[in-house]
Amino acid sequence: MDHQDVLSKMTEKDKIALCSGQNAWSTKAMAKYGIPAMVCADGPHGLRVQEPGAGLTDVHRSRPATCFPAAALTACSWDPALLEEMGRAIGTEAESSGVDLVLGPGANLKRDPRCGRNFEYFSEDPLLSGALAAGEIAGIQKTGVGACLKHFVCNNQEYRRTASDSRVDERTLRELYLTAFEIAVREAKPAAVMAAYNMVNGIYCSDHKELLTDILRHQWGYEGLVVTDWGGMHDRVAAFEAGCDLSMPGKNPAQVRAARRAVNGGRLSREAVDESAARILKLALRERPAPGQTDWAAHHRLAARMVRESAVLLQNKDQLLPLSPEQNVVLMGAMAASPRIQGTGSSHVHPVQLTGIRDALPGLSYVPGCREDGSTDEMLLAEAARAASQAQTVVIFAGFPEQAETEGADRRDLKMPEGQLRLIETVSAVNPNTVVVLTSGGPVECPWAEHVKSILYVGLPGQACGEAIGDLIYGRANPCGRLAESWPIRLEDCPTAAYYGAQNAQYREGIYVGYRYYEKAGVPVRWAFGHGLSYTTFAYSDLRLIGDVVTVSVTNTGDRPGAEVAQLYIAPPAGGIHRPIRELKGFLKVKLEPGQTKTLGFQLEERSFALWQGGWVVPGGVYTATVGGLSVDIPRQGPELPVPQWQPGSWYEHPCGCPKEEDWKMLGRFEEKQETAYSMDSTLTDLAQDSRLAAMLARGICWYLTRQLGEDDPLLPMLLQSSLEASLCSVQSNAGLPRCWFELLVKLANRKQKREAKSPACNTL
Ligand code: BGC
Repeated sequence: MDHQDVLSKMTEKDKIALCSGQNAWSTKAMAKYGIPAMVCADGPHGLRVQEPGAGLTDVHRSRPATCFPAAALTACSWDPALLEEMGRAIGTEAESSGVDLVLGPGANLKRDPRCGRNFEYFSEDPLLSGALAAGEIAGIQKTGVGACLKHFVCNNQEYRRTASDSRVDERTLRELYLTAFEIAVREAKPAAVMAAYNMVNGIYCSDHKELLTDILRHQWGYEGLVVTDWGGMHDRVAAFEAGCDLSMPGKNPAQVRAARRAVNGGRLSREAVDESAARILKLALRERPAPGQTDWAAHHRLAARMVRESAVLLQNKDQLLPLSPEQNVVLMGAMAASPRIQGTGSSHVHPVQLTGIRDALPGLSYVPGCREDGSTDEMLLAEAARAASQAQTVVIFAGFPEQAETEGADRRDLKMPEGQLRLIETVSAVNPNTVVVLTSGGPVECPWAEHVKSILYVGLPGQACGEAIGDLIYGRANPCGRLAESWPIRLEDCPTAAYYGAQNAQYREGIYVGYRYYEKAGVPVRWAFGHGLSYTTFAYSDLRLIGDVVTVSVTNTGDRPGAEVAQLYIAPPAGGIHRPIRELKGFLKVKLEPGQTKTLGFQLEERSFALWQGGWVVPGGVYTATVGGLSVDIPRQGPELPVPQWQPGSWYEHPCGCPKEEDWKMLGRFEEKQETAYSMDSTLTDLAQDSRLAAMLARGICWYLTRQLGEDDPLLPMLLQSSLEASLCSVQSNAGLPRCWFELLVKLANRKQKREAKSPACNTL
């Protein structure tokens, strides 16, 4: 059925109604027009189709699906084709579950390693993030199911994610945060893009015309649907005009009425509504693939391969790894017995099966040494020391506990639990042949790194972790992952250390995120972006520039098959407008047999050299391309751009430590929104300062959730944040409660605030 024909038959009222969801996971079906419902499900590394009857707090009650490794690990594959395979498998599972739109992948950049949701994202680099997201989208969409790229844009902290303003200068926005999305949109044409919860420079993403229409549709040529994040519709009228089509879950009759009044009153154009309804129809009416059969065993094997091709060998002194089958090895750490395979929140998958390391290597002895929460005691440590002193090699499984990595809440630090630290210290003191297998969705501080010989990073490895890790440590597979983000030595080394996680996010570091900062500031890191070892060795030769193509040869100089990730960086000419020392502009993964050589070609484009100054410009001068330690000069014609007056001697020319607010103000004009009264954008915690009722409600919710879930449930921080630190607007539409209740709460708090202004001494809370 042609969507324009259907649209022409629809009443205005029905068009507006179609633009809000029917329930948590479906759009509206309208039988009289032959419009079917469109079903959505999370998420980036596997399907989360909630069980029928699962309530608001039952985020983890979903139908079994393959739990692939999270993006924090798959990104380390540097292999978009592998992500495409995963996308295809997720798409097939979606298809057989009747899901039309998979809510993922996420292309948000890793701005600070404390972001609670970093495990769901790929990288600190926009090229790598965009290319991997494009791979996954292409795979999902090849099955006929749509993919939804999220969260557009600058959703880089979880604290107050529905009520915070990401304040970022235009250059940084373009060169980093938007570029990741731009690549994915242009390359893979996702069926949908999800507008983030937060504001960008004072405007909610759902209402942001410049982002959703000018940039996304007009500049990047995007033709798909824009959907809100769940409960993220801010102002339905402004959102229609901005190009935000679908409000999910959309339980917000007041907003629908407001849109109807606005159309009737001429404040909202009929065209805007038509365009949004047409985009929904186009997707809802498209031909659906016939549900196929899922080959669960094949998906499990793929999940294992993804770990094998993504895990990063961070350190391997004396070539302790791979182990030989004859060695007397003992496994340690509670994570060896109860593997951590994924993070908490909407991306959580109920795995169809799970193979831990002890299932994969049943012959090895195991001594816990610590508990699941990372604590330990003298008895556990003494037992571990005894076992370690009798073994040839000890393999300790350690990393962040489950509570540390969740949607909705950021971490305070990058520290591993005390008990795990003591276990590594105790064991490495008695046995020099200690291996640590690190499980986490991002960097952890590793002050113990010098005391152990080998470290293998396995991210959050999904349901097939056991067999894959077994293959890697015994050399049946050769590690070939490379870090997709820098690992700082200490949290304090991050430029954002002192100001990340504020009510509103000031992107003071500008373009100096990740390696762009560490290299320019000369701050040493524990392991650099792009780092990763192998059981074999590689040599680069013959770097050339042929037209706009950089070619290089890579040889496997060792005695095992292996894969190398060739990374092409471009360094700008000296002087001029401040820029990073070098930026990633191409990468290729190549598998090589021992002694084999392959020649790779990297196509350069204008954007490989450009910076943003009101548009993309390539300043003239001599650029340098480096690959694997070799370099070649590339002269480019172009204008000489005037250097801003504030630049010489500024933090941006010589970044070091945390930039101050005064430094940042040089980058642009950032208006501080003056909130004089509470509104639907305020949170319950805000209101609680002035309203006894709000304070009582907040306490009640806290008590109820804690009682329902228990204090140790990893979901608790997310649910508390989503109710207490979320904008009332978002709580209302997620919970589907009447808007007037929330408006009354706001009114009461504002009344109290006014009285207080008259008698400021009174404080009853
Ligand atoms: C998350 C989205 C997710 C949606 C539906 C939101 O809270 O931010 O990533 O797709 O919920 O579960």
